[in-house]
Amino acid sequence: MKRSRTRLLITGGAGFIGYNLVNYLLKKNKYNILNIDKLSYAGYYYKKYPIVSKNYKFVKCDIGNKNKIRKLLNTFKPNKIINLAAESHVDNSINNPSEFIKNNVISIFNFIEEVRNYLQKNKVNDNFIFHHISTDEVYGDLEKNRNAFSEQSPYRPSSPYSASKSSIDHILRAYFRTYNFPVVISICSNNFGPFQNVEKLIPLTINNIIHEKNIPIYGNGKQIRDWIYVLDHVDALERVFKKGIMGETYNISTNNKLSNIEVIKKIIKIFDRDFPRSNKESYSNLIRYVKDRPGHDNKYILNSNKIKKKLNWNLSSSFNKSLELTIKWYIKEINKNEKK
Ligand SMILES: NC(=O)c1ccc[n+]([C@@H]2O[C@H](COP(=O)([O-])OP(=O)(O)OC[C@H]3O[C@@H](n4cnc5c(N)ncnc54)[C@H](O)[C@@H]3O)[C@@H](O)[C@H]2O)c1
Repeated sequence: MKRSRTRLLITGGAGFIGYNLVNYLLKKNKYNILNIDKLSYAGYYYKKYPIVSKNYKFVKCDIGNKNKIRKLLNTFKPNKIINLAAESHVDNSINNPSEFIKNNVISIFNFIEEVRNYLQKNKVNDNFIFHHISTDEVYGDLEKNRNAFSEQSPYRPSSPYSASKSSIDHILRAYFRTYNFPVVISICSNNFGPFQNVEKLIPLTINNIIHEKNIPIYGNGKQIRDWIYVLDHVDALERVFKKGIMGETYNISTNNKLSNIEVIKKIIKIFDRDFPRSNKESYSNLIRYVKDRPGHDNKYILNSNKIKKKLNWNLSSSFNKSLELTIKWYIKEINKNEKK
């Protein structure tokens, strides 16, 4: 007997992680995907390379639009929802916090309410999951000599972005307790890889090296992040929405702890080796230390033992290899643009 495909509703699937996730899942040939995204500036690559597949549909819509979302839920009838939609750039949240509260709290809350109403009115099977994607930034700064953040660590957000993400995590946990809302939350560390907006550290550094522009680095550059290749993250996401237990939270990381300056130096080393300047000088003279970001967290490290033990997930690409792949991808992409 032919098995029916899982109907997956993905929000924010035109952004960096969502775009990689949709492509990854379509290759599995097991899912029918509806991607709902408002196509903000963060959908730059989606607008350039829209996804086309007979098992896929895109709808441009703000997930806070209750009427439109209600209709979409009733016609698509998802088996699972993966909620990635969010404004995601910390600097933008510092410059315009109200936009982050409106979008990442109010719009997402409206969406959750529509999903709750939909679940109440329809007989939805027991495997229904609302998988919400959160960020390690909800845990705040990891103080010196403290262990990596586990799923039990308290939330201590430092920026309007991380506060907005924390708010929705709290609402979803309360909804699980109060309404038995079928949520599972995953919390991931810093992603990198193809299709990431050039505003973020790794693509910005690559772009600036290619264009011989200064590479800005906040403060002393010693802020430590736990880097994960985006394709490792999307692989973990599939494990979570298929096997995760309702009401549970899973941290996702691959234990690549590096300071921002170390990441920049690694990128420069690859460029100096593979794409040296004609005058043989290192690209390191492009580095410029700039005034630190207010509220900048010094360190995030995630303990991801739970997903490894409970969901048997243990994929981890080599950071250096994934970084090389990412650099090559951006070089190709930027060259393509400039030939036009
Ligand atoms: N990038 C990371 O390192 C990282 C790490 C951990 C968690 N996350 C989380 O993963 C998710 C995706 O991150 P990303 O890096 O792909 O972000 P992104 O900014 O590249 O993409 C977000 C997408 O969501 C869409 N969107 C935002 N608000 C929406 C709304 N109200 N309605 C419909 N669409 C909306 C945008 O148009 C965009 O396409 C976010 O929730 C983010 O908090 C990101």
